[in-house]
Amino acid sequence: GAPVEADVGKLQPGEMMTIEWRGKPVWVLRRTAEMLAALEGHEDRLADPASSASLQPDYTVNRARAINPEYLVVIGICTHLGCSPTERIRPGASSGLGEDWPGGFLCPCHGSIFDLAGRVFKNQPAPTNLEIPPHTWLSATSLLIG
Ligand code: FES
Repeated sequence: GAPVEADVGKLQPGEMMTIEWRGKPVWVLRRTAEMLAALEGHEDRLADPASSASLQPDYTVNRARAINPEYLVVIGICTHLGCSPTERIRPGASSGLGEDWPGGFLCPCHGSIFDLAGRVFKNQPAPTNLEIPPHTWLSATSLLIG
């Protein structure tokens, strides 16, 4: 399939949009400074915190799993059996996932949970982190996926 170009310039901090690429939903989440800080407190609870066993381009192997840490670009398909996880991006008890929930995503099919970098928690049905597609930034807000 052809690469897809998307303008993410209207995304406000804390907002997410979905771009279709090769029939798959690619999420773009513009993370706040608070969300980025929240990636650090729970790494002992993650199955693959350094993304060594997960699928992503080499240039996104870092804590934020991103080229520009502000923007998470990730395929919104559970690595267990392919359901679409739902947003639980707000931290804390209002997520329904407990006071210590750092924000992330919940798969409704078998309950796998992922953080705000798409990293899966330990002991979940999903074996690996959400996949990151190949992508580049053509400008500060113009994203090319594929
Ligand atoms: Fe997501 Fe099974 S498909 S937990």
